Amino acid sequence: MTKILLGTEKPFAKEAVEGITKIFEDVGFQLVKLEKYTNQSDLINAVKDVDGLIIRSDIVDKEVIAAAKNLKIVVRAGAGYDNIDLTAASSKGIVAMNTPGQNANAVAELAVGMMLYLNRNGFNGSAGTELRGKKLGIHAYGHVGKIIGHIAKGLGMKVYAHDPFIDKVIIENDGVVCEEDVKDLYKKCEYISVNLPANDKTRDSINAGLLSLMPKGATLVNTARKEIIHEESLLKIFEERADFRYISDIAPDCKDQIASKYPGRFFFTPKKMGAQTAEANINAGLAAARQIVSFIQTGDKTFQVN
Ligand code: 3PG
Repeated sequence: MTKILLGTEKPFAKEAVEGITKIFEDVGFQLVKLEKYTNQSDLINAVKDVDGLIIRSDIVDKEVIAAAKNLKIVVRAGAGYDNIDLTAASSKGIVAMNTPGQNANAVAELAVGMMLYLNRNGFNGSAGTELRGKKLGIHAYGHVGKIIGHIAKGLGMKVYAHDPFIDKVIIENDGVVCEEDVKDLYKKCEYISVNLPANDKTRDSINAGLLSLMPKGATLVNTARKEIIHEESLLKIFEERADFRYISDIAPDCKDQIASKYPGRFFFTPKKMGAQTAEANINAGLAAARQIVSFIQTGDKTFQVN
């Protein structure tokens, strides 16, 4: 019998798990669950005899791949797959997939929600600032960036975007100004939302060279990965500019330094929670389950990333 593991350190909402269970039951696959595990060795043990694996930000490294003797497919229920060692997976003929766009709305809502939260001083009753009329620059106009732009326009923000991989016409059709040079995006916009994937090209790419270009009232919003921000540059700009603020879904490694020196100028979620809504869990979790069924039954490799 085909055996699938749902390996999620950060569990999906109950309804999502029920939906995933039903999809596999209907096709006669066995589903085993490893949720809220505390040690990587738990995942390593659990993958030993499974044919398919659904994960979130769970780490699928060389060790996990080596232990997974029968594994044919791993699906990251979500967008970023920087947590999977693709080379190790490919070397064993394991197909890796993601579920692009399925949790994008949740991430976009969190990005805007955190901007509102920081602008209103954590809803502490003191006078804050508004988003209306401010300029928002979207750095990478993918699924998340596009929805952030849409919400921001509803709030009366002026929206700009830079994405060398997306046709200018697509961006402009959304009523968003396309900035072909990334520097112009940073020069113009008080708010920058970074939505880049983490990979060898983007790691540490948001650096002093870009951040220092931002106009007065600069606020960096990161719902992507902490690794794309160059932390020395981040600390430098916090130190040099009293107007600079940083919002991030998951704290940077230098969070203690920021927290001790710059109160009121940052907000960090305690645990990555951009995609942590029932809707996003259902969308991404069920898509992952369906992709596994389709791959195992018909060889469908849509959404393969390796
Ligand atoms: C993603 O890449 O899809 C998001 O960062 C969500 O990650 P999560 O599934 O760990 O919440």
